[in-house]
Amino acid sequence: MTQGKVSPEELERFYASTDQASLAPGWLRRGEERPEVVPFLWKWSEVEPLVMRSGEVVTPDRDVQRRVLRLANPALGHGTTHTISAALQLLLPGECAPAHRHTPTAIRWILQGEGVYTTVQGDKCYMERGDLVLTPSWTWHDHNSEGDAPMIWLDGLDTPLVHNLHATFFENYPEDEQPVTGTGESIQKYASGALRPAWEDTKLPYSQLWHYKWDRTYDALWNLAQVDSSPFDDVAMEYSDPATGGSVLATMACWIQLIRPGIHTRAHRHTTSAVYQVFEGEGYSIIDGQRFDWSPGDLFVVPSWSWHEFGNDSSQEAILFSIQDNPVIKSLALFREEAYEENAGHQSVTGKFSGLQR
Ligand SMILES: [Fe+2]
Ligand SMILES: [Fe+2]
Repeated sequence: MTQGKVSPEELERFYASTDQASLAPGWLRRGEERPEVVPFLWKWSEVEPLVMRSGEVVTPDRDVQRRVLRLANPALGHGTTHTISAALQLLLPGECAPAHRHTPTAIRWILQGEGVYTTVQGDKCYMERGDLVLTPSWTWHDHNSEGDAPMIWLDGLDTPLVHNLHATFFENYPEDEQPVTGTGESIQKYASGALRPAWEDTKLPYSQLWHYKWDRTYDALWNLAQVDSSPFDDVAMEYSDPATGGSVLATMACWIQLIRPGIHTRAHRHTTSAVYQVFEGEGYSIIDGQRFDWSPGDLFVVPSWSWHEFGNDSSQEAILFSIQDNPVIKSLALFREEAYEENAGHQSVTGKFSGLQR
């Protein structure tokens, strides 16, 4: 910094008076530090017993609302990335997670269990492994078990973003369960892909199809694999709003990704962040030079502007589900992407992730 024509004492007095006047000299850049989101991986073998144990520790009711264990990024303490909060939710047989709505948007990615439905705006959606269920901003939703097995799913919310935008609102429904007006209606109306009800407005900021079934997802992945793939993501598909072809939600995108046996993708980085769940198979990601080996059930974070690439050395397919903040970054014209050019697109591995060093 170039010193002005004042003595050090006068400078200190000047800073004292700007502090007094609630003015911050821009050249000092005080208070502009932000916590870096770090790449991290949660092992399913460590997480699942704690999720199951949470079933003995607490019961969902109006106080608890939801029995969730959040994936807290070690650098943040709250939030999995700076925009996304992912969590594991457990619902036991016969339980009800009561109806409410909130401005943060949520997605549910079903990991295991059966006999549970989520009612979204009156539409009863029976959840099965590999299904994606959306509960867009300000839609009523409650989760109910009528099965005899526990269900675990991954919740993904944009709460860190909405919180920072000071736009968080929440409302309880008067009863635990909202009235059911239909079963699977959004699928009947909107899951036909290229066809939609002709008379409806298509300008909603979220998909009106809020239940994406696994069998269709899996077929779509392998159909794409026959004809094309990405050098950075192998066979990657974004769940889309059938009315617009765009992302399913205004703030979050959901992806399903097949990393075929023997594939090692090229590295790139971009200004979007993502939380991944390993749905099937084994493989690895290299994130900013660090190798993260993953196996079924594991969850990991790719922060914004981190180099990343994927590999599958096994003889089985690997399937990754992810929640990404692409829609908000792109709609604000802040998307930037860069390919890793050296070493045929592969980073040098400088270390292997071995958990939190406490
Ligand atoms: Fe909720
Ligand atoms: Fe990427």
